[in-house]
Amino acid sequence: MELQSAPPARALLALALLIALPSCCLCLDKLNMCMDAKHHKTEPGPEGELYKQCAPWRENACCTANTTAEAHEDNSYLYNFNWNHCGVMSEQCKSHFIQDTCFYECSPHLGPWIQQVDSSWRKERILDVPLCLEDCEGWYKDCKDDFTCKDNWHIGWDWSSGVNYCPKYAHCRKWTEVFPDAKSMCEKIWSNSYKYTTLTKDSGRCMQMWFTGLNPNKKVAEYYLNRAPGTGTGLTLSLAAVLSTLLH
Ligand SMILES: *[C@@H]1O[C@H](CO)[C@@H](O)[C@H](O)[C@H]1NC(C)=O
Repeated sequence: MELQSAPPARALLALALLIALPSCCLCLDKLNMCMDAKHHKTEPGPEGELYKQCAPWRENACCTANTTAEAHEDNSYLYNFNWNHCGVMSEQCKSHFIQDTCFYECSPHLGPWIQQVDSSWRKERILDVPLCLEDCEGWYKDCKDDFTCKDNWHIGWDWSSGVNYCPKYAHCRKWTEVFPDAKSMCEKIWSNSYKYTTLTKDSGRCMQMWFTGLNPNKKVAEYYLNRAPGTGTGLTLSLAAVLSTLLH
């Protein structure tokens, strides 16, 4: 090590660390964090009691057990959301909305897709999360015989009775008339929270709503974070600079 006797190298190292540290802290946070929204914990952590369909997140979750129990209820206090706004939603269709709620509330690996929003009920949202083909197509297939009145379920409801009902202008129609295909459903229903992809689960490059065992989404988030300009690249360049400084 020549660091003691070579001031220029020391200066370079300091500079490299200055560049590396902020991008590194940012990337570590983004791989394991909770969004600032209505029911999320401030930090992810173990939750041994997560309920039924949300159980896969038990080892590390942004949701509490209470949130996951409520996620399985109709008109739950979470969002007072009425799945049965055009007749009773089929059980198989509802199971995907429950899973979607588990994924949204529990996932600690959504960092790369979290955006600030100016809304009364949350400060952050997700945008364009690349959903695995199987999850989006399976969701559509199990809902395609159901009915709904709107393609964007975030806005435009009649909330006058406390839960959402179809507004006067929106009549109940076949699911397939409202959403011609899986892509339109997955992308429109939560105003582009999800992005349709043709990537399958084995690609490791799409997010899985349905999984068992170890959460596969951390590696996916890592992949997208490192691809993003200014974070992964910055970190790699800074580390390269540190290494080359140390080696010279
Ligand atoms: C969750 O917590 C809320 C508020 O404390 C409570 O009203 C509700 O009954 C709880 N739900 C479950 C399923 O325990």
